[in-house]
Amino acid sequence: MRTVFWENNELKMIDQRILPARFEVISYRSHKDVAFAITDMVVRGAPAIGAAAAFGLALAGFESASSSTEGLLADLGAASAVLKASRPTAVNLAWAVDRLMTVARSVTGSADDLRAAVLAEAQKLADEDIEINKRMAEHGAVLIDDGDTIIHHCNTGALATVDWGTALGVIRTAHEQGKHIHVLVDETRPRLQGARLTAWELEQYGIPYEIISDNMSGYFLKTGKAQKVLFGADRVAANGDVANKIGSYMLALAAHDNNVPVYSVVPTSTVDLSLAHGDLIPIEERNTDEVLGIQFHGEPVAPKNAKARNPAFDVTPNRLLSGIVTENGVVYPPFDINLPKFVR
Ligand code: MRU
Repeated sequence: MRTVFWENNELKMIDQRILPARFEVISYRSHKDVAFAITDMVVRGAPAIGAAAAFGLALAGFESASSSTEGLLADLGAASAVLKASRPTAVNLAWAVDRLMTVARSVTGSADDLRAAVLAEAQKLADEDIEINKRMAEHGAVLIDDGDTIIHHCNTGALATVDWGTALGVIRTAHEQGKHIHVLVDETRPRLQGARLTAWELEQYGIPYEIISDNMSGYFLKTGKAQKVLFGADRVAANGDVANKIGSYMLALAAHDNNVPVYSVVPTSTVDLSLAHGDLIPIEERNTDEVLGIQFHGEPVAPKNAKARNPAFDVTPNRLLSGIVTENGVVYPPFDINLPKFVR
């Protein structure tokens, strides 16, 4: 089943806020509700957000009462702005919306032709996402050895994409090739995408795993108990600096210090060649309730008036990465020279 799909003139999305306790699919008929679903993380993960925004724009087309293509394009432009503002770091969001707007502007027929073309392009983008993930997974699986223990951060699986996944897709493909893999699942504070979503997916695939708290990675890397580190990315700058879920940087530092290879697995739609380096990537800062809301023995952990910070992503400098896996192959350093060649 897909994470994000179109059915009966509605966008349907698995509600990732409540997994693994409950599996529920929510239906959407309005682009504003889709934008809120992205902000609230019903749907999350860079490629899944891109697909959701694409279908959100298709919904905006059907919401518009305009019978002229000019009026419809104006309504789609306004909806684009709403969708793009829903989360700042994952570039797939703007990439998907811009791709659909380019198609919309090229339509020469009626307003209804335009609506149909936008929906068809959203569907195409979603279908392509799965095909691209499988190509990435084939390239990435070559890097995985039989018997590897892999530390994985956040959730990069089917739930973070339309289906299959990025870094977790590599693990899945290597497992299907018969390689014996063990995954150490970073729980990924504060939203716990690892403990909740990655662990749930690994259960479905029958891949052995253990959950670790994020601060345990250094121990496993230093004691030689992990052979690879894999994560995805929300935006990759032209020089190969990678913005990914908060904690990726510390994990990559510890891996680098212990000569453990680190790979970021990304579709080229996640590469932003307009940004020269990672310090230019906008980093989302989310509500501190996500940090302070955790309980211990049924009681709040922090004092009542405690303050907190909650940057949702950090940037791993390219020097800490052994390679960047894309659908067009594995990119090796120097990334500033090699990465643009893989982005077609
Ligand atoms: O805040 P999230 O859960 O949307 O963050 C997701 C990640 O950081 C993933 O690692 C990233 O999107 C790449 S995986 C497809």
